[in-house]
Amino acid sequence: MIIPVKWSDEGVQMLDQRLLPTEEKWLTLKSYTEVADGIREMVVRGAPAIGVSAAYGIALGVKNFVGTNIADLEEEFDYIAETLGKTRPTAVNLFWAIDRMRRVFQANKSKSISEIKQILIAESKDIHEEDIESQRMIAEYGGELLEDNSTVLTHCNAGALATGGVWGTALGVIRGAVNQGKTIAVIADETRPYLQGSRLTAWELLQDNIPVTLITDNMSGHLMKKGRVQAVVVGSDRIAANGDVANKIGTYMVAVLAKQHDIPFYVAAPLSTVDLMCPTGEEIPIEERDIREITHIKDIQLAPEGISVNNYAFDVTPNEFVTAIITEKGVARAPYTESLRKMFED
Ligand code: MRU
Repeated sequence: MIIPVKWSDEGVQMLDQRLLPTEEKWLTLKSYTEVADGIREMVVRGAPAIGVSAAYGIALGVKNFVGTNIADLEEEFDYIAETLGKTRPTAVNLFWAIDRMRRVFQANKSKSISEIKQILIAESKDIHEEDIESQRMIAEYGGELLEDNSTVLTHCNAGALATGGVWGTALGVIRGAVNQGKTIAVIADETRPYLQGSRLTAWELLQDNIPVTLITDNMSGHLMKKGRVQAVVVGSDRIAANGDVANKIGTYMVAVLAKQHDIPFYVAAPLSTVDLMCPTGEEIPIEERDIREITHIKDIQLAPEGISVNNYAFDVTPNEFVTAIITEKGVARAPYTESLRKMFED
């Protein structure tokens, strides 16, 4: 059972995902700034896991506050929230978790500082537990959509590593189907440039003995054309109110190919990934990362010195390519503006 981030009395513990699959090393992050660095530098990654980590980061920052004045604590809270909020722009779970922690802080401001510390630690643990429970429900609902004896293609890593743990979103759907007694094989594309597919998805599925075959990103069209893919399942970093889906760069390409070949394209995500304040995918901020992720692998140079490079970390798949969005409240289908809004009302 993989749980990539944990609270402990010593600090926030994170499995260092930068080292997988060759090394399993845990780090203990002892301050909120270390947690912020951990998120920014991809020790932990994946939208729900980033949200859980940010909640723990706030709890840790407040726990480490040494003052006695509530106004000073409020100022410190704002600074902690701002620091964590600047780490990664696309995954809305980060801002969702910070907002939730802020609301709890505001609602308990009249209490003693030691009580506030305990309340915020408890809230961050609740966020974590609820996230795991959401993935369990996604696994159950999503598992129903996959056919027995089918092969599912997934992009990036939307597994236990990318969430609070245990299930994952896209990999949760696959695990759910397997738990329902279905025989499922997975095709994982490697997901250039950060290789979350080959390093993380392949590693996770091997641990669960779910058959997985690794391909390069440019092989998916060929396999779809040959009838080797029966469904695509991916996670998301932010879903706009109209059902446009931001996810790892390359997702859009896979979605277009899936439509061309009449293959269902499913998105699995908790409601903490749905941003009703974002009307369409156009408004979703897309992170751009260090060009070295493309020009180098470790110290090996892959491109000429000084070359101009784009390194967009995410893209947006328009809602017309999305067959269904699987959440902890059930399966949403087009028109998404209504079906997604309804999920928040139930
Ligand atoms: O840059 P990353 O590794 O944080 O990107 C992760 C993804 O794009 C995942 O597919 C997404 O966060 C869904 S995780 C359940």
